[in-house]
Amino acid sequence: MRQKIVAGNWKMNKNLAETKALISDLKAEENTSGARVIITPSFVNLALAVSETEGTAIEVAAQNMSQYNAGAYTGEVSAAMLKSAGVNVVILGHSERRAYYGETDSLLAEKVDKALAEGMEVIFCFGEELEERKADKHYDVVASQISNALYHLGEDAFKNIILAYEPVWAIGTGETATAEQAQEMHFFIRKTLADKYSAALAESVSILYGGSCKPSNAEEIFSKEDVDGGLIGGASLKAADFFGVVNANK
Ligand code: 13P
Repeated sequence: MRQKIVAGNWKMNKNLAETKALISDLKAEENTSGARVIITPSFVNLALAVSETEGTAIEVAAQNMSQYNAGAYTGEVSAAMLKSAGVNVVILGHSERRAYYGETDSLLAEKVDKALAEGMEVIFCFGEELEERKADKHYDVVASQISNALYHLGEDAFKNIILAYEPVWAIGTGETATAEQAQEMHFFIRKTLADKYSAALAESVSILYGGSCKPSNAEEIFSKEDVDGGLIGGASLKAADFFGVVNANK
């Protein structure tokens, strides 16, 4: 049975007081779906978020992480630092990191290795741009993003990998992939995993959809066979909207 997961990617939003207030609102909501619920405040507010969510089922993750252990890397945050703050899950490979900060597949492979070596779980993001979809290259793009960053891993490592398909053209644009487009891609990803590893592994990995997912469209997207949940941007910044999405993941 694959895990159902809804993760909120807060991106560069919410200061300290706002983080506290949103977590307080989230704690007042009821999870009726049984999905795992993950939130990702900014680095500076992670420790606060961990203490504010203590004793609840809300998990706290980071949005990024260094590939290095420690040392002279100004502005960076290590896996060990995250773990010491009580954070055991990290998002890697988000398209905004790839596009604005030059993160490449090979860098992401290093970051994935570091996170797994520290015993962390990785939410690994990938997805095609609009031009690539228009050129009918979306399957090739996604297959290469996944293989370049993950296919050096052994089968066992995938116990700690959550995949997140986020078509770039659907992020923050209000334009969502149709449930059929999401299903087609998730099915394709599962097939490539089965071909590379095994049917059992492909069946066990959770694959999330991300891109303008909100309470009004989440249920249809999550109803698809190969969609195990969502990675939510804008709609994760209000407790009622976020739990509208969480509770759509039945
Ligand atoms: P939106 O839900 O705001 O489109 O963002 C999706 C996303 O990038 C989640 O990582």
